[in-house]
Amino acid sequence: MSKVVVVYHSGYGHTRVMAEAVAQGVERHLGSACRLIAVEDVAAHWDELHRADAIIFGAPTYMGSASAAFKQFMEATAAFYLAKPWRDKLAAGFTNSGSLCGDKLNTLLQMAVFAAQHSMIWVGLDLLPARSTGGSFEGQMNRLGSSMGAMAQSSLEQPPQFAPPLEDRCTAAHLGERVARLAQRMARD
Ligand SMILES: Cc1cc2nc3c(=O)[nH]c(=O)nc-3n(C[C@H](O)[C@H](O)[C@H](O)COP(=O)(O)O)c2cc1C
Repeated sequence: MSKVVVVYHSGYGHTRVMAEAVAQGVERHLGSACRLIAVEDVAAHWDELHRADAIIFGAPTYMGSASAAFKQFMEATAAFYLAKPWRDKLAAGFTNSGSLCGDKLNTLLQMAVFAAQHSMIWVGLDLLPARSTGGSFEGQMNRLGSSMGAMAQSSLEQPPQFAPPLEDRCTAAHLGERVARLAQRMARD
């Protein structure tokens, strides 16, 4: 049994939809369990993070980088930076923004650097970018063409029931399943 924790922030609910999709992907891999932890609640759950086989980070992109609440979580981990409790755990990330680009690659890069600071092993998305068919990316995973992690875009006028779209939620589930599969493989070795 491998244990994956998703630790995320969502100011208005859209990134939470992605977090739930990642968790569904993890649990679709037989023998994997997933725990969702919002950064607001993390203080009570550090032990679960330390025991996890993999940690998947999620944050909305605010002003071209991870939201301040997620950054606060990152900085709180400085308390155990020297002890390295996350050494050799798998890490991955997802983000969501209002614009198609929205500078959100920067958020995933921030997460990857953060993971490296904790001596974790970064897992990319492993999906080819969606290909435009007649100008549309409908029905395809990785419609935003990321390699570093799962990206989503939620139109500002749409509530979390409608955004991010199914394509992005399926991309998130793919990432969750990939991390779960790799975590189990590493646990066997
Ligand atoms: C303070 C703030 C800054 C934002 N900055 C960006 C940005 O840099 N790029 C972008 O595309 N969207 C930006 N947005 C839009 C959010 O990324 C978008 O609404 C997202 O769906 C919010 O996710 P959440 O509902 O999980 O908080 C910003 C929103 C807020 C509130």
